[in-house]
Amino acid sequence: MTDQSYEPMNWDAFDERRRPAPETVDFDRVVEAAMSRRGFLRSVVAFGSGAAAMGLGSMMSSTSANAQAAAMSRFAFTPIPTATDSMVHVPEGYSWKVVAAWGDALFSDAPAFDHENFGHPNSDRVFGENTDGMEMFNIDGHQVIAINHEYVNSGINVDVDENELPTNAADVLKLQNLQGITVMEVAKGAEGWAVVVDSPFNRRITNNTPMMISGPAAGHTLLQTASDPIGTSVLGTLNNCGSGRTPWGTYLTCEENFNGYFGSTNAEMTIPDGFDRYGIGAESGYAYEKFDARFDLAQNPNEPHRFGYVVEIDPSDAASTPVKRSALGRFKHENAASVVARNGRVVVYLGDDERGEFLYKYVSNGVYMPGGDTSTLLDDGVLYVAQFGADGSGQWLPLTPETTGMDAAMICIHTRQAASAVGATTMDRPEWVAVNPIAIEAYCALTNNSWRKADATNAGGDAMVPVEGSPNARAENGYGQIVRWYPVDEDHTATGFTWDLYVTAGNPTVHSDAYAGSANITDGNMFNSPDGMVFDRFGLLWIQTDGDDSNEGDFAGQGNNQMLVGDPATGEIARFLTGPVGSEVTGMTPSSDGRTIFVGIQHPGTGWPAEGLPRSAIIAVWRDDGALIA
Ligand code: FEO
Ligand code: CA
Ligand code: CA
Repeated sequence: MTDQSYEPMNWDAFDERRRPAPETVDFDRVVEAAMSRRGFLRSVVAFGSGAAAMGLGSMMSSTSANAQAAAMSRFAFTPIPTATDSMVHVPEGYSWKVVAAWGDALFSDAPAFDHENFGHPNSDRVFGENTDGMEMFNIDGHQVIAINHEYVNSGINVDVDENELPTNAADVLKLQNLQGITVMEVAKGAEGWAVVVDSPFNRRITNNTPMMISGPAAGHTLLQTASDPIGTSVLGTLNNCGSGRTPWGTYLTCEENFNGYFGSTNAEMTIPDGFDRYGIGAESGYAYEKFDARFDLAQNPNEPHRFGYVVEIDPSDAASTPVKRSALGRFKHENAASVVARNGRVVVYLGDDERGEFLYKYVSNGVYMPGGDTSTLLDDGVLYVAQFGADGSGQWLPLTPETTGMDAAMICIHTRQAASAVGATTMDRPEWVAVNPIAIEAYCALTNNSWRKADATNAGGDAMVPVEGSPNARAENGYGQIVRWYPVDEDHTATGFTWDLYVTAGNPTVHSDAYAGSANITDGNMFNSPDGMVFDRFGLLWIQTDGDDSNEGDFAGQGNNQMLVGDPATGEIARFLTGPVGSEVTGMTPSSDGRTIFVGIQHPGTGWPAEGLPRSAIIAVWRDDGALIA
């Protein structure tokens, strides 16, 4: 198989990308001026002027950046202001509508949504809650979206106790059924984009769906349980956060805060080795362990070892068995950004979203051949972890038995410990990674980190002090930043890279020091806590936020969470969408013709999209003139 997400684009469509008609720009002169401003980026010249210019945003003065952005803008929309209301806002000339909200039917036998009665009775036939990462697949002309449901707000789904926890097994099962993944066909009809109810592609994958574990950890004694003595088949996937896609057209869903689902009915039990590093303890966040023995450490101490992976799902076959790919490591996976390197190997970049944890990449040993056997490409390879130098250089350190003193299976089960053993760089909560499709570079959103203090460490004891000049330079970092790296020799499999910061988020209306943000942050585009990130096919970076929407103090003037678009070539960043108050904007994927984007609105804070219960939903956004989206 090959990934066929996009329809081939004809020349007319490409020409639309020229809107507004570019003014005459001496691009190489701009690049040259930029290069002279910052020493280490000279090494980037080898990439050619287009890629070299990627450093512009963080290098130029505010005035010159604004002037260049005005002259060079590739955006086809007028940026919008911040908002603090309960609405979604998009630029003038664009419209949006809800495509699927929590509880909507995927099948005609699903129960109807009832605002007065916790949404609906228990069902695994409806769209789940709290949408997150998503990917569109073009399967023989059908538009099929695979989308995560990261977690549930228990109190709006079931009758909870004073601690907001469910009180019986039936309610736990209902919560389990509203998480996981939805695969669904969507189509554009007279009423615009809508779910194709009863499409053969439609599918719910929940906390209880049977799946396999492959790769080095499969069958290890730590993965064996009473119900699975072989240690290769597991029920369900947990806390599916960000997403990815393979070159062969399958979906990658990422298990993030899986630790919160496990607890112990015996508060006195000794917690097994290695659990501390992952935040697994006697107290859970969902009370599953009281009503479902699988989540009770006192009865099933190995069950947590079977979560924390990247799971591969074939969206073209609703009967296929998902596979947990242990070779990509076990940690709080944010997303999985894959790219085929020039030598044909598959590279997957991976963030571990926790204060002071790490950034990883996986490199397959085999080579991707379109139409060839892809079944072991995510099982047989090498996992690396990033070490950033304050001089703008960096290294990917291999996690092997030789470098870690751990065997191959343990590296894939206790991956955080393996990365600590080789001296990886502690990061400011790595969220999504995005790979630029038109330049050899990748970006990671480092969302924020309030714990970078003089003597702070992560749970493994690795120092988390701020390092001047590094990607993690600010203590009390409430704003976040986006780091990007350029592989040596334009080779994503190379162990060396150079890096810079695409943007340092901040608030220039409140601060005049490092907390004001980088030169491409202004009072007109400021934001905090970058999280979701997706490149479109034209090399524009869509940035989504999950941060402080108080609109006060350090965050005054930043409004609700939002989605912005960044131009890597100029540094320009412009606000495209604002979410309803209390929500996080997360997950974005375009339709195959590039004329619609689907965007996720997670945990709205008030009755949204209509009065009643707050309903997480994905929306379609399009240009009223039917042109390409941006
Ligand atoms: Fe689920 Fe790190 O966001
Ligand atoms: Ca996230
Ligand atoms: Ca986040």
